[in-house]
Amino acid sequence: MIRLAVPDIRDEDIARMVEVVKSGQLVQGKAVEEFEAALVEFSGIPHCAAVSSGTSALHLALLALGIGPGDKVLVPAFTYPATANAVELVGGKVLLCDVDPQSYVVTPQAVEKVLASPEGRDIKAIMLVHEFGFPVEVKRIAELAASRGIKVIEDAACALGTVADGFHPGYYSDMACFSFHPRKAITTGEGGAMMSRNAELVTLSKRLRNHGTQPANGRMDFTEAGLNYRLTNFQAALGINQIARFAQELDSRKEMVKTYFARLAGNAQVELPQDNAGHSWQSFMVVIRGGARERVKAAMVDLGIEVNLGAHALNCLTYFQRKYGVDAASCPVSTMLYQDGLVLPLRSMLTPDELLFICDSLEKVVGP
Ligand SMILES: Cc1ncc(COP(=O)(O)O)c(C=O)c1O
Repeated sequence: MIRLAVPDIRDEDIARMVEVVKSGQLVQGKAVEEFEAALVEFSGIPHCAAVSSGTSALHLALLALGIGPGDKVLVPAFTYPATANAVELVGGKVLLCDVDPQSYVVTPQAVEKVLASPEGRDIKAIMLVHEFGFPVEVKRIAELAASRGIKVIEDAACALGTVADGFHPGYYSDMACFSFHPRKAITTGEGGAMMSRNAELVTLSKRLRNHGTQPANGRMDFTEAGLNYRLTNFQAALGINQIARFAQELDSRKEMVKTYFARLAGNAQVELPQDNAGHSWQSFMVVIRGGARERVKAAMVDLGIEVNLGAHALNCLTYFQRKYGVDAASCPVSTMLYQDGLVLPLRSMLTPDELLFICDSLEKVVGP
């Protein structure tokens, strides 16, 4: 089976992790600080707090920004539910925004439309999802938000290495949140990080991830009702060298994507995603026309190729339908991408022969 995603964990990563385990310092220690420093160096975003998952990063970002009960938050409809669940966790209200059919992310025009709608006028925060690594036009959206006093959080769970308007996530927004789940381009098992140019926000997030602790006058005080969202020291150790290798990994993903574009461009049944120089290609999703996605998915698996649906349309999920009265027609592009999207393998160590086999198999299954 050609797998969709296989973590690139090497002996050097395991050795580093074992060293930390043997040291006995398992939680919140030097390796976590080194992991944070490596992310800062890689991205150029000056402040970082490593946390236990992408979801905990999103939850902490909302708490740190003071988003609370009744506050409206714009969320792209095509995403992983964790983006909206974090809003629900703080008692906020989700306002869905449909995405673009080629880039799979929200556009400034779509965001502006929601902000101008009667229910969008008192929005307190915007979540921007760089879905599959595609760079959202974050600069324009952040400008729109700033003029209305709205906070912006980038859900960069899939976007390590994404460059949007010249910068990594965390530059234009208040905070960017990353995931290091094994499906992502680098992994610590479970894990996440928050990055920002705002030192105070990151300091507050670090207190919140650690029970609200604050050292004061030689004793430990608790200044916030915090949580335990710490990353363990040995998980961080597993990730440090992966970050050091990541620039190379990005280049090889971009090369693989060139093959997908070159081989699949002429096929009328397969709609290719939008390309962009700042795309980090965490996943490669195509759209299968004519309602054939499920058939194609099953046939590809039969040929030994693991494929999957892309993200979810929140407007099609029971929780959001019950709570907000939305349905498939509320965000039609997200619904289409949820029903017709097919993610093809894209990862380290995928050989040129495997890539060609995937393209040939897809062409065979969908027809010309
Ligand atoms: C867009 C998006 N946001 C948030 C998450 C949640 O990240 P984690 O699984 O690390 O909690 C994911 C994970 O798949 C995601 O794809």
